[in-house]
Amino acid sequence: MDTVAAVNPDDLQQEALAAAAAASSLTELDEVRVRYLGRKSALKLALREVRDRETGMALNAVRESIETAVASRQKELERAELDRTIAEDRVDVTLPGTPRPRGHLHLVTQVRREVEDIFVGMGYEVVDGREVETTHYLFDALNMAPNHVTRSPLHSFYVGEDTLLRTETSPSQVHTMEAKPPPVFMVSLGRCYRRDTPDTTHYPIFHQVEGLAVDRGITLADLKGTLQYLLRRLFGEERETKFITHFFPFTEPSMEVLVSCFQCDGAGCPMCKHSGWIEIGGSGMVDPNVLEFVGYDPEEVSGFAFGWGLERMAILRHGLPDIRDLWADDLRFLRQF
Ligand code: DAH
Repeated sequence: MDTVAAVNPDDLQQEALAAAAAASSLTELDEVRVRYLGRKSALKLALREVRDRETGMALNAVRESIETAVASRQKELERAELDRTIAEDRVDVTLPGTPRPRGHLHLVTQVRREVEDIFVGMGYEVVDGREVETTHYLFDALNMAPNHVTRSPLHSFYVGEDTLLRTETSPSQVHTMEAKPPPVFMVSLGRCYRRDTPDTTHYPIFHQVEGLAVDRGITLADLKGTLQYLLRRLFGEERETKFITHFFPFTEPSMEVLVSCFQCDGAGCPMCKHSGWIEIGGSGMVDPNVLEFVGYDPEEVSGFAFGWGLERMAILRHGLPDIRDLWADDLRFLRQF
């Protein structure tokens, strides 16, 4: 047939190889493939018409060489395309990025972590308490009289008959002691809730740090030394401390802790109400009734405890005028600390 005669294997091969080499994109190469190897290509048509062995072998050799050429050109083009994408997609990491505003911890959280660090440094463990408590743990276990005012729904947030939001962190003392035998050296920090009308010094939500040390031979000297150390870490090495008698149902004796005013160094100023001393919070030797309640033997072990407000510490350290600012979520205020 004419077509067979029309195909000159050498010319065809040369032409096809040149076309493959000249293809500058995968699309172009595909066109080359269709033109020289496709079902309607001169080569395929010629192969179909082949009658003698020699022509067949020659044409097949041409087909194979074109296939190899197309395949290797395809590899080259793919490689080049990949190189180009990598080059074009490169990100200049030295370009200035979009600045993201960076936040920081809330002032009360900062104080909380600082107090935790101080006690961890003394070998205390930090334990979690429960924000929703039972009257059993919040009052009974802490030796509170059946008519104690904070038992009243007028003072506390009840969520059920015998369940309420804790008014202080002290129940964490009981949970910790119930969970293991003495010795106990722990602090527990967290939120407390009272039905207080907000004013400059009150807010219905606030934080306390509770501390408890129980072991053989713990004395009032340990309480004073530990709390003085804490106060000096918080308010400066020159601070003096004073302990005056007080009453708490779960400690005997109970004491209010005062620190010498760091504003006037004891001379008298508005910060210390001209007394030279600033009230910090409650403390005392753990009442034997509390130890007995959790199954500890008050003849064997003794302990001290304290419970202080974290907001109060923050307010004192920064001379803040109003506790409500700490809860107002006003960034202009919070960013200052
Ligand atoms: N829980 C007391 C309160 O909220 C503070 C307190 C006083 C805690 C003496 C103590 C303590 O552990 O020993 O007013």
